[in-house]
Amino acid sequence: MNNPSRRNVLLAGGALGALGALSAATPAWSWSPKGSVVGEGDGLDPKTVWDPEADQVVAAVIERGETSKVNALLEKWTKNGQALPAGLPADLKAFMEKARQLPSWTDQGKLAAAVNFNEKRGLYLGVTYGFVSGMLSTVIPREARAVYYSKGGADMRDRITKTAKLGYDVGTKNAFAPEGEMIVTCVKTRLAHAGVRYLLPKSPHWDAVADESIPISQADIMVTWHSLPTTVMQQLKQWKVPIAAAESEGFLHSWQVTAHMLGVKDEYIPATWDEANSQAAQVLTPILGPTPEGVKLADTLLNLADFIDGGIVSAPVLAALTRYTLGDEIAGWLKIRETPFWSGILDTAWEPFIAVREGLLSLEKAPGPVQKFYWLFDEILRLGVLLVLSGAKFPISIGIPEMNNPN
Ligand code: HEM
Repeated sequence: MNNPSRRNVLLAGGALGALGALSAATPAWSWSPKGSVVGEGDGLDPKTVWDPEADQVVAAVIERGETSKVNALLEKWTKNGQALPAGLPADLKAFMEKARQLPSWTDQGKLAAAVNFNEKRGLYLGVTYGFVSGMLSTVIPREARAVYYSKGGADMRDRITKTAKLGYDVGTKNAFAPEGEMIVTCVKTRLAHAGVRYLLPKSPHWDAVADESIPISQADIMVTWHSLPTTVMQQLKQWKVPIAAAESEGFLHSWQVTAHMLGVKDEYIPATWDEANSQAAQVLTPILGPTPEGVKLADTLLNLADFIDGGIVSAPVLAALTRYTLGDEIAGWLKIRETPFWSGILDTAWEPFIAVREGLLSLEKAPGPVQKFYWLFDEILRLGVLLVLSGAKFPISIGIPEMNNPN
């Protein structure tokens, strides 16, 4: 994504990517590998599985003092089909050559359908990734802590825009083709996560609150994964956005491939939406909860749009939107203020607004608030995308973190 104009970004429907975690209260793992993309596996609890190959290589890079040099080289690697930069340490290069290979089950037809879906639904995706997934990530306790105490926690805007790049890239045409960038983004993210696994356990702040010894297990990644595509699809269905079956499958497939490229073992990647929903019910829903770190991150997210209007309209609208999409309980956990005026409007008019937008209802027949606030709702959709990408300094380069959040 080289210097995309704001318009192009809006058209393509970029979005917020993610974070992730799992709390001590998580029930025992019982999701069967039979429901996965490969239909089989050892069935090991993914809370006890990390990413040994990446972790070993990245730990060695950090210990040899090569992080800055490697990150500088990684900046030059942007396209999927591009050769790896010369000068990378041999062990890292060997790992990356392997990690950049798409899984054998990649279906190009489905990926093409995903592009159609992203093009048609880009605006909805912006708001759902941005607000729904983004806000949800702040009530995933392990994720909130990991993000807050890692380097990215010190500069949330930078962190969000980097994560947004992944959301943007997954929806672009040719995302996984040689001229696209998604493979690169995933491999770099895999390295970043390995760096976090090495560094975060050394943070006294993280150590004081963490309920695990090593962050970002395979289970954690799948929790975050569900806060993205699974939650987004559930939300779009709730809003009654019409979605063709092939496009829905394509969207799922683009995220299945993404999970694999982020280092998730195939046996944990759900094969269908039904399987995804059942895994999410087991791993995501029960672990949601408030943390002081999550409350602070949510507050930062809510105020990210301040640059647009000083927060006068955006902040209360975003607060209402969070309450509308995630419900009163989660809004309460996050100490999000009540905004009854905007909440009332969303409650009565959001779904009819979608129906009008989708040509399923004429504006004249829509309830009064839809007619009155149509422009505003359209702005909310646009804001979702703008918000997450606003702080971006392109080109964005994801690398191995060099330190934790010092604060
Ligand atoms: C870094 C995406 C899961 C914690 C990143 C980055 C991306 C990303 C794009 C690079 C951005 C940056 O450098 O700031 C994702 C996706 C996930 C996922 C798509 C799952 C589908 C997780 C989980 C956790 C986590 C489960 C923690 C429990 C972090 C942290 C960083 C990071 C701490 C480094 C931030 C920094 O210090 O710069 N992730 N992530 N991620 N991720 Fe994830």
